[in-house]
Amino acid sequence: MNQLARELNALLEGTIIGRVLSEYGLRSYFPKGIVAQASEAGVKATRFNATVGMAYAGGKPILTDTAAKQIPGFSAKESVAYSPTAGIVDLRTQWESEIRRKNPSLSDTPMLKPVLTSGLTNGIFQLGELFVDPDDRIIMPDLFWGNYRLMLETRRAARIVTFPFFDESNAFNTEGFRAACEKNRSAGKLMVLLNFPNNPAGYAPTQKETDSLVNVLYDLAEAGMDMIVVTDDAYFGLYYQTDVYRESLFARCANLHERVLACKIDGATKEEYLWGLRLGFITIAAQGLTAAHYDAFEKKLTGSIRASVSNGNTLGQNILLRMLIDPEWQEEKRRIYDDMHARFDTVQSILAKYTGPLQALPCNAGYFMSFDCGDLDAEQIRIALLERGIGTISIQNRYLRVAFASVDNHDLPTLYGEIFDVVEAISQEQTH
Ligand SMILES: Cc1ncc(COP(=O)(O)O)c(C=O)c1O
Repeated sequence: MNQLARELNALLEGTIIGRVLSEYGLRSYFPKGIVAQASEAGVKATRFNATVGMAYAGGKPILTDTAAKQIPGFSAKESVAYSPTAGIVDLRTQWESEIRRKNPSLSDTPMLKPVLTSGLTNGIFQLGELFVDPDDRIIMPDLFWGNYRLMLETRRAARIVTFPFFDESNAFNTEGFRAACEKNRSAGKLMVLLNFPNNPAGYAPTQKETDSLVNVLYDLAEAGMDMIVVTDDAYFGLYYQTDVYRESLFARCANLHERVLACKIDGATKEEYLWGLRLGFITIAAQGLTAAHYDAFEKKLTGSIRASVSNGNTLGQNILLRMLIDPEWQEEKRRIYDDMHARFDTVQSILAKYTGPLQALPCNAGYFMSFDCGDLDAEQIRIALLERGIGTISIQNRYLRVAFASVDNHDLPTLYGEIFDVVEAISQEQTH
């Protein structure tokens, strides 16, 4: 094993991070190679800096006229130059203050300064690399974003263990969650992955359900289990009903227990409506971790980023940074939220009048809602809708997911009218 990796492991020994690192996580380190030498030169090379692999002219990275005219207002440094592996420092600082502003219960709890990833997908991928070994169990509700399978099962050879998302009273199934974790306790270490507001259910826990969830995590940690609690906060902030808990579960776990490693995956993708700019962040926290521990982990994480995507999109980061500090952005974001809320209200009023065979799953947040199609085949419904020029998603042949965030409010009654019509036709066919 590389000496630098050994030193990081020694620093992390005895902490939750040290205990839950994967085989690769143990080997990972940030080399004193080109990037480290170039950043040293950035400070000390006052005469000529002949380190980095970018073409310079007159002391600045070359920004071609042809590219520059597409991105007026951005300098070469802000657009085409490489940015640091962990992301542009000002953006990381700004994103941290956004996380604290949106999650007041975090207050000044110490945590890793958010590290930039190539979208949320790459954030989850990196956690998989650093914390997951073959055959590790990962607990999540049975309604989850399908890409988790590719990242964690196909890629890391872990085993996803699910529990029913809702209990008999249609509340978040905290007891099912507890049972799934306890059943897999022999592992000693468990990753749980919770995505609220959920894709595909469009559900986020209430205050009471959040309290119960936190209690379960605390009990498991008290019983000696090392927990890696990953919150995928992709749709953070899109809460529509008053009893929904409005902070991230991360905020409640960041200082919960020395055996609970809270890992927040979030980003600009859905929250700031910048899907294709590929800007995600990883933030971690656990009770008792010191600045030296966060620094050691950051070196492992940036080593893994360097080994995969190398570094993030500089222009995208600067667009996001300017947006976050623009006084008009919060107002514009509020207007989009109001529009999403209005679509949610429209869907709720349509569903309130519906009496057919589809069962709408509880929905109070996010971009989506889903139907449980019961005895009907969700894939057959999807195909029939497609023939009418309507795209929806079928999941496990049982659920039909509708992204109300992607259809204008005034079109929702027609969309749902078509869905109900197709379902009616298919169920009549079945009874004949
Ligand atoms: C729950 C969830 N997490 C993450 C993502 C992907 O985020 P990104 O595009 O930033 O990789 C999605 C996209 O659909 C999602 O639904």
